[in-house]
Amino acid sequence: MPHAIPPNVSHDTPELDCLDFSGKTTYGDFRDDLVRDGYVVVKHAISAERAGYYVDEIQTWLESFNLGYKRDDPSTVRDECLPIIIAKGLVQAYGAPHESFTWGVRSEPGVIGTFEKIFQTDDLLVSFDAVNVSLAGRLDKKYDEFQPWAHQDQDPERPGFRCIQGFVNLCPNGDNDGGLMVLKGGHLVSQEYHKEFNEEEREFRWTNEMYLFKDTGLKWLADKGLEWVKVNAGPGDLVLWDSRAPHYNVPPRGDQNRFVVYTSYAPASTATKEDLLQKKWLFENTKGHSHWAQGFQPFVEAFVGPKRNGQPDPINTWKPRKPPVLSERAFRLTGIPYINEKE
Ligand SMILES: [Fe+2]
Repeated sequence: MPHAIPPNVSHDTPELDCLDFSGKTTYGDFRDDLVRDGYVVVKHAISAERAGYYVDEIQTWLESFNLGYKRDDPSTVRDECLPIIIAKGLVQAYGAPHESFTWGVRSEPGVIGTFEKIFQTDDLLVSFDAVNVSLAGRLDKKYDEFQPWAHQDQDPERPGFRCIQGFVNLCPNGDNDGGLMVLKGGHLVSQEYHKEFNEEEREFRWTNEMYLFKDTGLKWLADKGLEWVKVNAGPGDLVLWDSRAPHYNVPPRGDQNRFVVYTSYAPASTATKEDLLQKKWLFENTKGHSHWAQGFQPFVEAFVGPKRNGQPDPINTWKPRKPPVLSERAFRLTGIPYINEKE
């Protein structure tokens, strides 16, 4: 059975003015790199010790499915022993968007504080997005399926600065360890690019907020002199990128796991009452959605649901195994407390 084809969803995402991309402003901190390069590694957003705690929690979570995976036994690093995880490492099912460890990372003061600085407000929303669990040494050759998938996560018809995406990196991450590839400076030519490629036919997509580059587009970017960078990071570092920056991820090729929690925030002021009511429903039903913290593009379960032996995986309940306990600060990030402030 092929996956169900979901509808193509479009949303009028708000343009933001909290960062100046003209080159005329100096911030004196990580924002200078983010504005210039389209990405930045914010060092030690959480401590290495906390990162180690979350790695342990994720390993315990993987073992808790009782399929045979054991963190210290390399012979168990294969599909039969694990939740089904695609070659890109994204885990959107199995309740991962609302697991205790996922919310733990989203609630870390150093992560929230970084986004407060970007958006100049503490009234923020956080995305209920996936986690990435890319185990090293997969015996099922999972990563042989992997193809680079250079893309932007923003609608080409809506230019300008609209979204900062991020993840907290939990394991040591060097050249061989998979992770984010980003086209340095690519965000600054996005509008020019899309004027040039306006007529080029696009593949099927389930949301306009995703633009996949073809070889023609990649050549255009290379001719501009822009270069792909593998972003390395230490445990606890927060990696941020502008959604206009072309990017993709690569699987680990060495013996180091890659575990990250995607963390994307946006000002609460950018969401409508309708957005927040949808977000409330998603939160209360432990559903996930895209990197847009306003709650856009809930995961279409028929589309992202994992298959085991060709059938929906019976161990996937879409519920967290260890439900989160949210602090008052974390609960604000769900958007629920802001609903009554909206018209
Ligand atoms: Fe992306």
